[in-house]
Amino acid sequence: MRIDIITCLPRLLESPLNDSIVKRAQTKGLVEINVIDLRQYASDKHKSVDDYAYGGGAGMVMMIEPIDRCIEELKTQRTYDEIIYMSPDGERFTQPIANQLSLKRNLILLCGHYKGVDERVREHLVTREISIGDYVLSGGELAAAVVTDAVVRLIPGVLSDETSALTDSFQDNLIAPPVYTRPAEYKGWKVPDVLLSGHEQKIADWRYQQALERTQTRRPDLLEDA
Ligand code: ADE
Repeated sequence: MRIDIITCLPRLLESPLNDSIVKRAQTKGLVEINVIDLRQYASDKHKSVDDYAYGGGAGMVMMIEPIDRCIEELKTQRTYDEIIYMSPDGERFTQPIANQLSLKRNLILLCGHYKGVDERVREHLVTREISIGDYVLSGGELAAAVVTDAVVRLIPGVLSDETSALTDSFQDNLIAPPVYTRPAEYKGWKVPDVLLSGHEQKIADWRYQQALERTQTRRPDLLEDA
């Protein structure tokens, strides 16, 4: 899989993409992540990627031309399954969308800034818009990092235990059950006996019950969706 991230602030993506699981996935050759500095596609000497809004008003708007040139160049190299604009008014990002995107071959994530992009980018250049939640970030970079992380960990071979992504919260509309590690007792706080019993079926039943109870108390909406 390949993910091209277009941004005017590439440094914001350095750390999240170059550590931990996402880094390892790249090292193993399971994903290629390419961060592209939009300013390279600016046509003036100041490397401008934004301009004043027609009709006036506060805030700059990202221009269509550098974005179009960048996407056009990428498209000469490969076919993209989706060109996604990261935007607070996009479709809400969920685990099913992460699952769906993890099956794609080539993705572009376009990060917005300032007051957003010229509307013609949304009308003509992107295929999808994704929001990571109902709040406004300073730009799309952190959102792109979130989507990349959630997608990359689902690519087969990225997690060492292939089943572990399947037992994540949300994969079956249930919140994950509690987990414990040594010591079995700390300050009098004990690990549930069943987990120390070695009885696989009882442990599986307990975990399922816990997941159900947690979902009922914390996120009943997930059970309604199921
Ligand atoms: N850009 C700014 N805020 C955002 C959000 N909530 N999701 C995706 N992209 C964004």
